[in-house]
Amino acid sequence: MVKTFAVIGDPIEHSLSPSIHNAAFKALNLDCTYIAYRIPRGELKEGIESLRQIKISGFNVTIPHKIEMMQYLDEASAECKVIGATNTVSNDNGKFTGYNTDMDGFLEPIKKRNIGISGESVLVLGSGGAARAIVAGFVKEGAKKITISNRTLQKAQDLAEFASDLGAEADSITLQNVDVSKYKFVINATSVGLKNEPSPISTNAINANHVVYDIIYMPMNTDLIQQSKKNSATIIYGYEMLLGQAALAFQIWHKVQAPYEAMKKVLLGGF
Ligand code: ATR
Repeated sequence: MVKTFAVIGDPIEHSLSPSIHNAAFKALNLDCTYIAYRIPRGELKEGIESLRQIKISGFNVTIPHKIEMMQYLDEASAECKVIGATNTVSNDNGKFTGYNTDMDGFLEPIKKRNIGISGESVLVLGSGGAARAIVAGFVKEGAKKITISNRTLQKAQDLAEFASDLGAEADSITLQNVDVSKYKFVINATSVGLKNEPSPISTNAINANHVVYDIIYMPMNTDLIQQSKKNSATIIYGYEMLLGQAALAFQIWHKVQAPYEAMKKVLLGGF
């Protein structure tokens, strides 16, 4: 019988997850299909019920349901509990188990480049759900100091407190007062750049010692990435995190290594 997978969220029509997972099924000859299913905010409970009825094998969760989905799980992984959000759910005979592959999916391209995190200083721009998974990842990998910068300072303070509670040295600052020279890693986890806006921080002091990672994948070359490239920083692209989290979700569901190159090929073809 064909196994069905889905991504739920709203908006969902531009999601690249169906292309990525369907390419993986094709590469491995799996009798599976993956669809995008729009569930508006406030309709998660009903939406989940209909997924149960069609015996969905597993699904990804995206904006705006990553946090609310936690209450509909029968079991949650340790990462999910720490982050307080889930992006991947498996269905084993009606039992929904939640995972969060955003954190390790984010870390994967850093590890692949053999860039050390332990003992380093990190600047995270943004304080939403994505920033939270990223901060948890840096704490897990032993970052020495984490500074959170956000348009709304209160949210940056809350996220810094979350990082402190996990055991890191953390503080917060406004976007205008950022001094990039203090950090090795500069991460953009705001939505600034999605519409080709200028970088959320000044890039003048970015240099070859910096690792600049923008989690926006569309457009691939945000203004922050373009400026940082000019200044010879090491660049990590948002599509790499997208692929990293998708590959990990794939492995949870199918219990085999994800066909990373096939997934990457279809994703880059879509740009
Ligand atoms: P996600 O789950 O992807 O992290 P989110 O929770 O909506 O999405 O978070 C979006 C982030 O982008 C927030 O940090 C937001 O800042 P605020 O907390 O001040 O809202 C940031 N952001 C969005 N638009 C912005 C803008 N025009 N300038 C600066 N930051 C912005």
